[in-house]
This record gives sequence, structure tokens and C-alpha cells, in this order.
Amino acid sequence: MRTQVGIVGAGPAGLFLALLLQRAGIDCVVLEAKSRDYVESRVRAGVLEQGTVDLMADLGVDARLRRECMIDEGLDIRFSGRLIHLNLPGLTGGKLVHIYGQQEVVKDLIAARLASGGALLFEAEVTRLDNLTGDKPTIHFKHDGKDQTLTCDVIAGCDGFHGVCRPAIPADLLKIYDREFPFSWLGILSESAPLTEMTYANHDRGFALCSRRSPKVARLYVQCPPDDDLADWPDSRIWDELHVRLGDPGRSELAEGRIFQRNIAPVRSFVSAPMRYGRLFLTGDASHIVPPTGAKGLNLAVADVRVLSRALTEFFGNGSAEQLDRYSDTCLRRIWKVVRYSTYMTMLLHRPPDQTPFDREIQLAELDYIANSHAGAVAIAENYVGLPFEED
Ligand code: FAD
Ligand code: DHB
Repeated sequence: MRTQVGIVGAGPAGLFLALLLQRAGIDCVVLEAKSRDYVESRVRAGVLEQGTVDLMADLGVDARLRRECMIDEGLDIRFSGRLIHLNLPGLTGGKLVHIYGQQEVVKDLIAARLASGGALLFEAEVTRLDNLTGDKPTIHFKHDGKDQTLTCDVIAGCDGFHGVCRPAIPADLLKIYDREFPFSWLGILSESAPLTEMTYANHDRGFALCSRRSPKVARLYVQCPPDDDLADWPDSRIWDELHVRLGDPGRSELAEGRIFQRNIAPVRSFVSAPMRYGRLFLTGDASHIVPPTGAKGLNLAVADVRVLSRALTEFFGNGSAEQLDRYSDTCLRRIWKVVRYSTYMTMLLHRPPDQTPFDREIQLAELDYIANSHAGAVAIAENYVGLPFEED
């Protein structure tokens, strides 16, 4: 098999890239290790920045999003019995965020790719990349029980944190920045009415978050020790902690319901640079992870592929590699700003087990400052809705 751009991974990064390249008339093949059903039911993020929604509109894949999404104009932070309410449009010149599950985005992108006849192979596991510094890099993969190869002009590594593309770059050429936080997030989906605003909480017992997927489905998270597993968290304990940490000790505000999905995810910041090796370009989680407190992972993956698709359009259009050569630096400028913001929100809202009384007082003073400062409120709001794209 042969194509112009071989895309490894059908997560948000790989799928958005495929649609962008397809629109630019560039041939590409997407190879995804898992089944379609698996990829479409993987529950992850839910907050879409305006730039991500605009891109879906631009690609003509926003019809279901418009019908089913929830628009968020506010963000609440609860702490010490107090409330910070951030009015997003008021603080950002009219911007807001859309709540729409990542797996719904993935479903819409897959449907669009398949409807247009574009190549997208499921259960096609990439095992090895070859000849990355030559001009015909090759992808080796297993599909239908057979070993196959895909020869490309360029390979896009969109295969997430545990994929094969980043490890294909010689380790001595990469600088790795890694910070694991001493806590995880237990996340649930529940058949119950969520709070009406996106609500983050910093409580003495730890962080909690109430988001939503619909008026009848709540997406809730609590900070837990990093080595906990789901067996440590029976339903009653989850609800007890949510009520207390979200400031509802009388259990009258937050409705309870059947929990139908649960997972525990680590909280970490990770950046691997540069994002390019020869003809291989990394995007999204293959190259960086941000702590979920900023709600940025999916949006950052989308920002990378916007930059890459433009660079590839120039490369295949007039042969110029100028934008491709700048790809890594262009992306990293945004990535580090998002890592900074996500780390800031993580430090602001969690209770690390080793937090000193001094650190706790600084944290409470910071929250008190934000509660009373327009500048402090704007600094959170403008990052939450998404920083502008510098190249726009
Ligand atoms: P991915 O979505 O990981 O997609 C990579 C794809 O590559 C996958 O489909 C994978 O199966 C495929 N693949 C891997 N290896 C191979 C191979 N060898 N061959 C072929 N295909 C391969 N962000 C938030 O903002 N809020 C959240 O609540 C949140 N929760 C998360 C929970 C979990 C458990 C995880 C892992 C991430 C979460 N994130 C969250 C982050 C966000 O979901 C990611 O940033 C986003 O999925 C990145 O998209 P991606 O396309 O780069 O990678
Ligand atoms: C959601 C996830 C996040 O990581 C976050 O910060 C806010 C909301 C969500 O899943 O809705």
C-alpha cells in the first residue's frame, strides 16, 4: 500500500488530521489498532474550546454537536464555603465553551471519514516504523491476520501516549519533561441531574468536579490517592465524597443516580520535544499529556493538527518544507502555555498529601485573590475558553 500521509491512530488527532488533509486533496490512510466500537465508546474528555468547535463547523461535522451539546457560559470554583463565579463571555469578550463528550466527537469524525470513502482501517495495529529519515518512510502493521506495509511521504504519529511513534525516535534526540502529581482522578458517569454550572471544588478532603453530558447525565470526578483502584471506591463512598467536597453536606443539591461508567486516571504533565524526526511528525498525546484540571488534552491535540495540516498542505502544494520545519516550535509555544495553565489549575485546586500548612494558606490566599480580582478571574477564563491561535 502507498499513500502521501500515513496516519497512526484514530483518536481525535488522527481523525481531525485525516479530514483536514482530505479537504486539501492530500491522500492519507488512517491505521487504528482497536475496533471501531472500542474507539467510539472510550469515555474521556468533554470540554471543547471555541477553536475546536469552529474547526468541526469548518469541516461540516458539527450538525449533531449543535443539537446535542451543552453550552457553558460559566465556571464555578467552590472553596471554604465560598463561591467564585466566572462569567466566561463577560471576562473574555464573548467566548464560551461547549460540553460534548470526546467519544461523540470521535463518532462524528469517523462517520464523516467513512462516508467520504476515505481509508480508515480498524484493528490495524502498527508494529514498527522504518526509514524515517529517508523520503519514503514505511509503516509496518498487522491487519486481517497479515503483516502489511504502508509506504508514505510523511507519517503522522497520532497514536496517543502509549503508541509506537514516539519510541521510534532515537531517545538521545528527545528531551523529556515529566511531572507526575501525587494523586489521581476517579471519574464517573451517572444517570442523575448535574449541577447547573461546571463546578470545580477545593475542599479540605481534596478536589472534586461536577461536569455534565446532558441534563440527565452527570460527569463527576474526585481526587484520590494514586495507587487506589476502583474496588476501594464503592458507590456510597463516591457519593459521600462528592457531597462533602462540592459543599453539599446536607445532600440536597447534588442528585445521585446509577453509576454506569467509572475509571481512575493519573494526573501528569509530560512533554517530549522536538515533535519531529525526519519525516515523522508527532501530534496530541503521542507528544504531550496535560493534567485534566485544565480540560485541554483534546483541544491541544486539535491545535497540533491544525498546524500540521497547514504545513503539509504547503509541502504537497509547492514543495516548501518551511512550515514543516517550524512545526515543532510553533506547536510547543502553545503546548507550554497550556501545560502552564493546566499545572496552575492543578496546584490551585488539589490537596497534595504532602501539602504543608504554608502551601495550604498560599492556595487559599490565591483563591481569595481570584475571588476579588478582575485580572485573576480573566487569567483563568481566557485560558479556559482557549487562547487565540497565534498564526491566525
Ligand atoms: P488518543 O485519543 O489517545 O488516540 C490515539 C489512538 O491511537 C487511539 O485510538 C489508540 O488506540 C491508537 N493507537 C495506539 N497505538 C497504536 C498502534 N500501535 N497502532 C495503531 N493505532 C494505535 N482530557 C481532558 O481534557 N479531560 C478528561 O477528562 C480526560 N480524561 C482522560 C481519560 C483518559 C483515561 C485518558 C487516557 C485521557 C483523558 N484525557 C482527558 C485526555 C484526552 O482525552 C486526550 O488528550 C485526547 O484523547 C488526545 O487525543 P489523541 O488523538 O492525541 O490521542
Ligand atoms: C471535564 C473534564 C475535565 O478534565 C475538566 O477539567 C472539566 C470537565 C468533563 O469530562 O466534562
